[in-house]
Amino acid sequence: MKTKKTEKEPELRDMALRPKKLGDFVGQEKIKKKLLTFLQAAKQRKEPIEHILFYGPPGLGKTTLAHVIANEIGSQIRITSGPAIERSGDLASILTNLEDYDILFIDEIHRLSKPVEETLYPAMEEYHLDVILGKGPSARSLRLDLPHFTIIGATTRIGLLSSPLRDRFGATHRIDFYSEEDIEGIITRSAKLLSIEIEPVALHELARTSRGTPRIANRLLRRVRDYAQVHAQGRLDADTVKKAMEMLEIDEYGLDRADRQILDIIINKHAGGPVGIETIAAALSEDIGTIMDVHEPFLMQLGFLKRTSRGRMATQLAFKHLKIPLPKQIEKQQSLLE
Ligand SMILES: Nc1ncnc2c1ncn2[C@@H]1O[C@H](COP(=O)(O)OP(=O)(O)OP(=O)(O)O)[C@@H](O)[C@H]1O
Ligand SMILES: [Mg+2]
Repeated sequence: MKTKKTEKEPELRDMALRPKKLGDFVGQEKIKKKLLTFLQAAKQRKEPIEHILFYGPPGLGKTTLAHVIANEIGSQIRITSGPAIERSGDLASILTNLEDYDILFIDEIHRLSKPVEETLYPAMEEYHLDVILGKGPSARSLRLDLPHFTIIGATTRIGLLSSPLRDRFGATHRIDFYSEEDIEGIITRSAKLLSIEIEPVALHELARTSRGTPRIANRLLRRVRDYAQVHAQGRLDADTVKKAMEMLEIDEYGLDRADRQILDIIINKHAGGPVGIETIAAALSEDIGTIMDVHEPFLMQLGFLKRTSRGRMATQLAFKHLKIPLPKQIEKQQSLLE
């Protein structure tokens, strides 16, 4: 079987900070409550848990939750991803090697090929696989029984998942950006694990610029520690955070250079929009997927960007943030859209 390394394997450092149990997983209270109920019910009935799908922007904890679930129920977890399963045969060999109650985590599940996806349907529904042996007139179909496993799928692009695949998950959870308070909790936990002392005001500032994203919060904490070590005798206070953010070109909302460039293209080059995503991607020399997965969800969350049927538009708030006066006709146009 061919296994391709996915491009998204977490940094080793991330692994050290990754919560192991639901109790260490900060925030997302509603999801945790639902999961606890499902896990407990399945345990009491001695059944494998139903297939679960997590979706949402990168770095919010989809992979972490899959590991946490496996830990909570004491199951083995096998990790793969949509692009790594090239053929139905690859999938068959993964599935036949699982044991009852095992979890198969499929990252980027929207990237499964059609034939692989179709092989997955009966496996998810009835725990069996139909394999075709041979070719032409002598080909015959063989039904293989599979262990009672659970699939946990993760995707940043729920829209690209076919509805037959979506329908085969017992539960679908959308992971949203975290509140500043929860991000503070995550930074506090990580700081403790990394033996970093951080002042309360600095903690607050750091949480504010973390885009509601745990992965970014952890990354910024390490960058700010570097800055403090080299330029501030290791003191991690509000001033250090402010200077480190200036160096990293991250503004008070957590927007980085690319985010600001996107707004700049829409506002200054296209009079506020609407602009097609292809045009924005070309102007930035950035891949459309990255803009849609990484930048847009956060800009929309801040209320700086709108997706309309005619393209992307910058909102009044975005003009204000970039300190650009709002042209009269745009004010009118946007109030009509509201
Ligand atoms: N709720 C949380 N509490 C504490 N730490 C968290 C939480 N969620 C995520 N993290 C941290 O953030 C890092 C990124 O999370 P994770 O890899 O699970 O994100 P993801 O949603 O799978 O992202 P991607 O879409 O890029 O695969 C983890 O290594 C973990 O340390
Ligand atoms: Mg992941």
